[in-house]
Amino acid sequence: MNNQETLWNEAEAFISLCYEELNKSNEEKVARLHEIKEEIESAGVYTHTTEELTHGAKMAWRNSNRCIGRLFWSTLHVHDCRHVKTADEVKEALFHHIEYATNGGKIRPSITIFPPEHHRQQEVVIYNHQLVRYAGYETEYGIIGDEASLELTKICEAHGWKGERTHFDILPLMFRMKDQPPVLYDLPKEIVLEVDITHPEYEKFHDLGLKWYAVPIIADMKLEIGGIHYNAAPFNGWYMGTEIGARNLADEHRYNMLKKVASILGLDTTKNVSLWKDKAIVELNVAVLHSYREAGVTIVDHHTAAHQFKQFEKQEERSERRLTGDWTWLIPPVSPAATHIFHRNYENAIVKPNYFYQEKPYKRIEKA
Ligand code: ARG
Repeated sequence: MNNQETLWNEAEAFISLCYEELNKSNEEKVARLHEIKEEIESAGVYTHTTEELTHGAKMAWRNSNRCIGRLFWSTLHVHDCRHVKTADEVKEALFHHIEYATNGGKIRPSITIFPPEHHRQQEVVIYNHQLVRYAGYETEYGIIGDEASLELTKICEAHGWKGERTHFDILPLMFRMKDQPPVLYDLPKEIVLEVDITHPEYEKFHDLGLKWYAVPIIADMKLEIGGIHYNAAPFNGWYMGTEIGARNLADEHRYNMLKKVASILGLDTTKNVSLWKDKAIVELNVAVLHSYREAGVTIVDHHTAAHQFKQFEKQEERSERRLTGDWTWLIPPVSPAATHIFHRNYENAIVKPNYFYQEKPYKRIEKA
């Protein structure tokens, strides 16, 4: 099968399903498919209507097997930025995404969609993993900041950016336009909402100096709809507490805080059987949920999220759609067996539209 055939097959499958879901008439569907066929034959591509793009991005969320938050798939706010031409326009669209999604703490699930690639030619290439992310530095005293960001931080520095070297330096936006070298922009402080982590009972928690940003905006995945590849399409939901409390701040290769939390709680860290790690994880998660709530920033605990996912399962069944999921990601990292997800199976089949990993635009910089 050649590229045009593949594209047509993907387009046909997507348009048929999309138009059915949008309750469009058979005539409308047939006419649109005819139009797309001609466009593909003459130009080698076709262009989604805003309606197709919007619904396609929502379907892609619905099909994201690893996401526990899919009940809300149809509420996604889609920003159509396929018209952007310049780096300045991309920067403005990304700033706008951050502000719109943050919404003063009442987080709005959103996606900003830039021009799709064409014959592997990419119009906009984003380097950031998330639009807001903390830098990480290797120093003679150990790692400062987020170890997950070591590589990108080095690349930003190689391009002239300089961080303050706190544990929470916000990385600049880094992206490039088609054939141009990458550009970097610091995020204006006013548009990045962060939450200081405090504990409702242990005042000393505050001394750990922990915080996290409000909105996780994944910027390095590719949205594929009907054979069209949107390689630059940053999207966000809101956090589930465990992502921060059981992973970002707890993992040894991230902020590695469990020992310090345990010492604040006065736990015996010399014996595994004291379950000090478990206790530390739970209290860290209590602190994260408490802090986001106090700050008026949307967050969901894993029990509520699992319950919402159960509603999603029912909804999919009612809609006679096949439910797909990746059990290894759907179970929360804290008390997984206390959710229904743990006790059943999910079929981990890839259905499109969907969001996919793609190759990083940068290569590792060798250590000097
Ligand atoms: N786990 C990632 C993080 O901690 C974010 C992934 C997306 N999460 C979400 N709730 N939409 O930054």
